[in-house]
Amino acid sequence: MFPETLWYLLNVAIVFAQTRKQLSLNTVSSFNDSSTFTLPEASNLTVSVALCSSSSSARFFVTNTSADADNPGPDGGTDVYEISLNEGFGNFAGAFTNGGVLSADDASNVTFEVGVSESGPTHKISTDPPSLGDTTATQAIIFSPVFLEVSSEVPTYPNYSLPVANLSAPAVPSTSNNFSLIFSETSGSSPLASGLQTGCALQSQNSTGTIVNQTMWLPNEDGWRTQWIIDGLTPATNYTAYVIIDNTTVSGPIYFITKSESFSCPLLSNLPYCPGIAYAIPLAQPSSQSTYDSTNLPSEIAEPLISSLTNFTTTLTTFACGRDDYSPLVSCNDCQREYRRWLCTVSFPRCGEASSNNGAMVAANGAQKVFSALLSQPTTVTPRNSNFPSFNETYTALLPCLERCNAADRACPSFLGFRCPTAQFNALSSYGVGYIDSGVEGVEGRGSSGTAQDRYGNVWCNYG
Ligand SMILES: *[C@@H]1O[C@H](CO)[C@@H](O)[C@H](O)[C@H]1NC(C)=O
Ligand SMILES: *[C@@H]1O[C@H](CO)[C@@H](O)[C@H](O)[C@H]1NC(C)=O
Ligand SMILES: *[C@@H]1O[C@H](CO)[C@@H](O)[C@H](O)[C@H]1NC(C)=O
Ligand SMILES: *[C@@H]1O[C@H](CO)[C@@H](O)[C@H](O)[C@H]1NC(C)=O
Ligand SMILES: *[C@@H]1O[C@H](CO)[C@@H](O)[C@H](O)[C@H]1NC(C)=O
Ligand SMILES: *[C@@H]1O[C@H](CO)[C@@H](O)[C@H](O)[C@H]1NC(C)=O
Ligand SMILES: *[C@@H]1O[C@H](CO)[C@@H](O)[C@H](O)[C@H]1NC(C)=O
Ligand SMILES: *[C@@H]1O[C@H](CO)[C@@H](O)[C@H](O)[C@H]1NC(C)=O
Ligand SMILES: *[C@@H]1O[C@H](CO)[C@@H](O)[C@H](O)[C@H]1NC(C)=O
Ligand SMILES: *[C@@H]1O[C@H](CO)[C@@H](O)[C@H](O)[C@H]1NC(C)=O
Ligand SMILES: *[C@@H]1O[C@H](CO)[C@@H](O)[C@H](O)[C@H]1NC(C)=O
Ligand SMILES: *[C@@H]1O[C@H](CO)[C@@H](O)[C@H](O)[C@H]1NC(C)=O
Repeated sequence: MFPETLWYLLNVAIVFAQTRKQLSLNTVSSFNDSSTFTLPEASNLTVSVALCSSSSSARFFVTNTSADADNPGPDGGTDVYEISLNEGFGNFAGAFTNGGVLSADDASNVTFEVGVSESGPTHKISTDPPSLGDTTATQAIIFSPVFLEVSSEVPTYPNYSLPVANLSAPAVPSTSNNFSLIFSETSGSSPLASGLQTGCALQSQNSTGTIVNQTMWLPNEDGWRTQWIIDGLTPATNYTAYVIIDNTTVSGPIYFITKSESFSCPLLSNLPYCPGIAYAIPLAQPSSQSTYDSTNLPSEIAEPLISSLTNFTTTLTTFACGRDDYSPLVSCNDCQREYRRWLCTVSFPRCGEASSNNGAMVAANGAQKVFSALLSQPTTVTPRNSNFPSFNETYTALLPCLERCNAADRACPSFLGFRCPTAQFNALSSYGVGYIDSGVEGVEGRGSSGTAQDRYGNVWCNYG
């Protein structure tokens, strides 16, 4: 028979052994009850907590005194810290030279995750939001943040070769990524916008609509992104979207507006030779699939574009690229890239629409409303790109941003004679002027919106 005190101590030790769960380094675990956890030793440890369901009572306390310290709690003590939660997230970072203890109080009816990491918080909000390609009445193209950067190889003399005009899609990287897209109508009652912003909470919500295609895509030199095409959306509706990375990092929200029911332009994307194009174009609905890509875009449109880019590249390489510099900042490679992007943007007219909110936003510079660069295109107007068959319906074009043209102008040698219209000379009829940069020449980044589109669903001009 044990003496009573020893029995008591033994009992406490057994209770501890049963209820203190060991959390190991660089793991994420999910729980649904009030518990205490033993934290590993590390010189710089971050413990992060994410609520997966809402709770008004749950509180989290941590101590870094030692792995067999008393349970930390609201009474405080030496090196006892509360992990305060904001939108469901919280973390504590510090030295855990002897390990530590985490305690979840009043958490019996809540699901939560705990991440233990030596490289900053496991649960976090990314500073890099998803981005919108474009929408139709019921569809949208959404891009994740970059998951893999690319280092573009700059050709050098004597082997200064430029990419071919008819680029083929680059090999998809083998890097796996665990990105998921969550989207839902933006409304007061939407759990997406109103509730917890943690990955596990958002992932437990159902998206209203379906993902019809998911690809890894390299739209520009920034790097690889995941591209989603979604369908089954409600016309003329504001949507909220998030991308969840590895279940724990939340990118977003962004908002986007679907077009009205009468909007008749289909989406175009996934052209290897125009990788940045992901928007609605004035072309009859495709027959075999719901959007256009390189497999079903009419060759009467694709071939002249590639031919024109081939001819441009031929002319460009009459310059002693890589040997003589026409600029200390750019070379033929930059010129071809920017020219391609400009040519693609102007060759594929973009359909737009004034939304009820369009222009309601106050410009970054203060007072006035900013209206998008929309231009009505009656059926009688000859298409801007004469290789497009005439579109049998009146539509509204969203004009290219003038900055897209200026970028090509700046990157190319002057002997090519590439010139952009100026605000004084008719640029307004073919470009959106003064949105990103000021309309007054030479003033960069002082435009009315400061950007081609924002994360709230406003789109001012077509940046390609
Ligand atoms: C809590 O988690 C345990 C183990 O994962 C599971 O068996 C139990 O059903 C969960 N309870 C609730 C209320 O979700
Ligand atoms: C606990 O964390 C505090 C604050 O970060 C630090 O000053 C202290 O040295 C840590 N204690 C141990 C035992 O690591
Ligand atoms: C948890 O939920 C059960 C059933 O809904 C309820 O009886 C209990 O009081 C709740 N516990 C706490 C701590 O809120
Ligand atoms: C701890 O790690 C984080 C994330 O890696 C880092 O930002 C921070 O500077 C580190 N702190 C110390 C004291 O090393
Ligand atoms: C020139 O560069 C291209 C592409 O970078 C490469 O494929 C080719 O082998 C190179 N040619 C020579 C002669 O180095
Ligand atoms: C999501 O959909 C599934 C199946 O339709 C349903 O069982 C679940 O309750 C839904 N979840 C939410 C949060 O609406
Ligand atoms: C998704 O789109 C890409 C590019 O258009 C295409 O190659 C791929 O086959 C599509 N995937 C599915 C599952 O439809
Ligand atoms: C994300 O969660 C899913 C389902 O809970 C799980 O199967 C997957 O392994 C998790 N991924 C990562 C990277 O933790
Ligand atoms: C471009 O290349 C693809 C194959 O990569 C080919 O099918 C297509 O015909 C080419 N287009 C032109 C205009 O050369
Ligand atoms: C490219 O050059 C060829 C040969 O000079 C010419 O036949 C063709 O029409 C040009 N393409 C375009 C789009 O101008
Ligand atoms: C345009 O053509 C499509 C079929 O190509 C047809 O469904 C639609 O009604 C036509 N619109 C008008 C205004 O004629
Ligand atoms: C969409 O809804 C969000 C959240 O209410 C709002 O901030 C945004 O301005 C809306 N977008 C537009 C274009 O009205």
